[in-house]
Amino acid sequence: MIHPIVVGNWKMHNNYAGSVLLAKEVARYSEKIKHIDIVLAPPSIFVYPIYESLRARPSNLYLGVQNMMWENEGAYTGEISSIMVRGIAEYVILGHSERAKFFGETNEQVNKKIKNCLKNHLNCIVCIGEYDKYDLEDDYERELTRMKSDKGILSGLKERLTGLSAEDLENVSIAYEPVWAIGTGNNASGMYAGAIASIIKEFLHKELGISSSCRVLYGGSVDDKNAREFAAQTSIDGLLVGGESLNALRFAKICKIVSEVKSGR
Ligand code: 13P
Repeated sequence: MIHPIVVGNWKMHNNYAGSVLLAKEVARYSEKIKHIDIVLAPPSIFVYPIYESLRARPSNLYLGVQNMMWENEGAYTGEISSIMVRGIAEYVILGHSERAKFFGETNEQVNKKIKNCLKNHLNCIVCIGEYDKYDLEDDYERELTRMKSDKGILSGLKERLTGLSAEDLENVSIAYEPVWAIGTGNNASGMYAGAIASIIKEFLHKELGISSSCRVLYGGSVDDKNAREFAAQTSIDGLLVGGESLNALRFAKICKIVSEVKSGR
């Protein structure tokens, strides 16, 4: 059975005191939220103080970072590596569209990062998403072809996962984040996100030989009002939350909704 997961991507927000407080508040709420994994991905400078301040954290609460370098060490000013992360955080978000948009990150670089991350026994959350909405209702087959063509989300995913075995991918989750829905308040509908999550799963299974246990998350303007709509989709195994993860109560509500819907309680 796939274990649901909700990830809070704090991006470049908050200061030291605010980050530790936010993490502590989420930890307090998490104690009562069962059946899902919860991951907090603060700015990397705050991951260690949060790790220290949450020594007695609930067993379903994990820490993550938002990016890392593909080498273990070297002259890479400003970067962190997976061997630095290991032992402090368990997850790494890789290939977020903001990394491509602002820093020119390529699929090839994301692929190298995933490989390094897995070699060092970290779990990765690999993001993928289109810039312009697919029109599945108008012509499903045409849009499926577009997804598989150059610059489509499926060909992008294939490039990112090149050279990885089905076994490697046991520690990979895919976050489907349509770029047009990120930070816009214009979330995808549950049906749309569910349809694409299921296309991604089928693609992973049929074309890349990856088992159906690979989690697919949705991200893009998720809040405590629309979370149920996404959680209700059988193809969606969790959520990647940006802005709303900066508010402990609302983030906890999102986690609780996913827990309730997925466990049928
Ligand atoms: P928002 O939830 O703020 O739209 O951000 C989504 C996201 O990019 C999470 O990685």
